Amino acid sequence: MDNMNKEKDASASFFIITEAKERLSLSEKTKKWLAANCAVSLKGKTVVVTGANSGVGFKTAETMLYLGADVVMACRNRRKAEEAKAKLLEDYPGANITLMELDLASFASIDAFVKRLEEQKTDVSVFVNNAGVFHRPGEKTADGFDLVIGTNYLGVYRLTEKLLPYLQSLPHETVYINTVSIIAKVARDVDYGDFYLSEKPKNMSVYARSKICLARYTCALAERLGDGSVRVLMNHPGIALTPLGLNAYGKTVKRLSRVFGGIFNSPEKSSLSVAYIMSHSVPDGSLIGPKKLFGGWGYPKPNRIPRRFKKGADELAAFSEGEMSAARPAEAR
Ligand SMILES: NC(=O)c1ccc[n+]([C@@H]2O[C@H](COP(=O)([O-])OP(=O)(O)OC[C@H]3O[C@@H](n4cnc5c(N)ncnc54)[C@H](OP(=O)(O)O)[C@@H]3O)[C@@H](O)[C@H]2O)c1
Repeated sequence: MDNMNKEKDASASFFIITEAKERLSLSEKTKKWLAANCAVSLKGKTVVVTGANSGVGFKTAETMLYLGADVVMACRNRRKAEEAKAKLLEDYPGANITLMELDLASFASIDAFVKRLEEQKTDVSVFVNNAGVFHRPGEKTADGFDLVIGTNYLGVYRLTEKLLPYLQSLPHETVYINTVSIIAKVARDVDYGDFYLSEKPKNMSVYARSKICLARYTCALAERLGDGSVRVLMNHPGIALTPLGLNAYGKTVKRLSRVFGGIFNSPEKSSLSVAYIMSHSVPDGSLIGPKKLFGGWGYPKPNRIPRRFKKGADELAAFSEGEMSAARPAEAR
């Protein structure tokens, strides 16, 4: 897990946000909301959260611990993961928290992660594909893909397809949640003829494509797996103040948050969609997240699924398979 990536260290801004906006432990308001809306115990259940060291993923891990679950934090950076685990243990001293290495920007890391889960016979009840990146122009994954598409979509696609047989072999149902974004509802749709927007690779468009593909894939997967062994759903966090936006638009986001702080969701509020899914009978393929302010703000609720998420599954499957076979690890390039 020592893949110390080149990017700016996000942990500093993470702690500024959480200290300024809320305490590290769950707020009384959240606890009340959980008691009123998600009266469920996850005792004895194991919840895996990818990207659990930061932002919404960290708060998802915390909410799951609060509800009694054991948590596996699947992270790419050991130092950040250990710091996050130590923070969680301050509030939940007896908690069962396991760290596992997972870099979604490397197919080798994804394959090794799946193998370790299988070897350790991790009894996964809930798997939250929360990890994601934004705004990394020109950067590539270990297999030669655009970093944003490669991480947010191709990485999750590979992980999911590799992991499914194991999850299906477990003697109980697993809830599998992919984190998408409201941008996937409104951004220009994918054009497979120029998937990577070679002419004008705008950061937001590339990010949006990664999430459109993920949403479309998740809808198709929910239909494909109608047998109940693995339940597939989507969540979205609205617009939350986390390192994701701060790393991309640091100064602007900070200025906006000073003036309009209240319109951003806190990472804590954004994280509650997983608790919502675990305590409500929502159909497979559902999208759960905030609904206020065009989906940017509020507590989680079922969202209407945009028609575009349910279209083009075959085209996307062909694209994804093509990209899998085009993967070229650095040593082969
Ligand atoms: N914040 C928003 O307004 C917003 C809106 C829509 C959707 N989302 C989605 O919500 C999810 C959580 O984002 P966030 O806002 O909480 O951002 P964040 O604080 O930046 O957290 C992202 C997490 O993903 C991890 N990650 C990034 N690349 C990875 C990789 N290659 N392998 C494994 N983990 C990786 C990060 O690890 P490091 O700490 O090591 O970088 C971090 O733990 C993302 O999927 C994001 O696209 C967020």
